[in-house]
Amino acid sequence: MSSKAVNVAVIGTGVVGSAFLEQLLSMKSQITYNVILIAKYSKSLASKDYSPLALEASSWNKTVDAQGSAPFSVSEIHDFLKKSPLPTILVDNTSSEEIANYYPKFIESGISIATPNKKAFSSNLELWNSIFSLKPSNGLVYHEATVGAGLPIIGTLRDLIQTGDKVVKIEGIFSGTLSYIFNEFSTPTANDVSFSEVVKVAKSLGYTEPDPRDDLNGLDVARKVTILARIAGFEVQSPTSFPVQSLIPSALESVASSDEFMQKLPNYDDELKQLKLEAAKENKVLRFVGKVDFPSNVVSVGIEKYDYSHPFASLKGSDNVISIQTERYTNPLVIQGAGAGAAVTAAGVLADVIKIAQRL
Ligand SMILES: NC(=O)c1ccc[n+]([C@@H]2O[C@H](COP(=O)([O-])OP(=O)(O)OC[C@H]3O[C@@H](n4cnc5c(N)ncnc54)[C@H](OP(=O)(O)O)[C@@H]3O)[C@@H](O)[C@H]2O)c1
Repeated sequence: MSSKAVNVAVIGTGVVGSAFLEQLLSMKSQITYNVILIAKYSKSLASKDYSPLALEASSWNKTVDAQGSAPFSVSEIHDFLKKSPLPTILVDNTSSEEIANYYPKFIESGISIATPNKKAFSSNLELWNSIFSLKPSNGLVYHEATVGAGLPIIGTLRDLIQTGDKVVKIEGIFSGTLSYIFNEFSTPTANDVSFSEVVKVAKSLGYTEPDPRDDLNGLDVARKVTILARIAGFEVQSPTSFPVQSLIPSALESVASSDEFMQKLPNYDDELKQLKLEAAKENKVLRFVGKVDFPSNVVSVGIEKYDYSHPFASLKGSDNVISIQTERYTNPLVIQGAGAGAAVTAAGVLADVIKIAQRL
């Protein structure tokens, strides 16, 4: 009996895409995964007749550079994949809004999607609805790595809901960068490090975006909270439709360069220092969390205080953590671990590809 085979198209070969291809090409499986397209901004390599590209885990990059030609537009990728003779999975390892907006067309053409790209699931509600209210003949969509990288958060939440449980409250630390910053800044043991000093160290370690304001504005956390809230049943219109606390002092929002921002940030340390001292008097630490709270009908992102004994207070490094309280899990279910990084994120995407292939 011949084994099942699927075609796989990969867009994006950066941090996550490279690790994904390495893991896929070295995986042993009863299902055959034929890579028929690799696309990046600058180049793409496509199979001419939908036969598998000859790629090795250790050298696929060189093959794409040597044999690839002009980049494909997203509509060219769609036209190519919709004629694929085998069930096809598109793996979107970009953060492109343009590709995300195209998901409904891929799905309607029977192409399934696995992705760590948050854009399609955290932008306007119409796009979310068009992705998740399509016909059974359409492609499947899995996006575990859009929240908490490879941590089993989205699958767990969907399982809870599909089996009839009701979410009461979701609370979590969803940014590796802000996890690191607050774990260093506010600890159960006395420490007088300033907020700007911790941001400076985080930047020098490469934990922040090139401009740390892209982490400190809270938008990345708001996107993840939007995704979780929608899965849990909140009709969140967009990641800017609920309160999101920005950690950027308003006077520094419009300074031109990130260097100038970093230089001026120490002038604004006082407010967070006072907040940290207040929390310490109550035996609490500060953490930057996203919340979905059904009893009070609130979705929010911002600084919260937690008792020294709370699981969020003992978080280490840049770990993510999520606490899900439901009607069945009155004592919350807690999932914790690395929430970023090439290997874990790629593994989350690959696990989705496997789930899709098993269902096709
Ligand atoms: N890194 C993590 O730890 C992590 C964790 C969780 C989720 N994610 C998500 O995973 C995704 C990828 O992250 P990353 O860190 O791997 O990003 P990255 O290193 O910047 O790589 C992005 C890749 O996408 C390609 N690309 C972008 N737009 C494209 C387009 N329109 N057409 C074709 N190719 C395009 C780029 O092509 P070129 O190579 O030609 O520039 C590059 O190969 C993002 O959505 C991110 O939010 C990342």
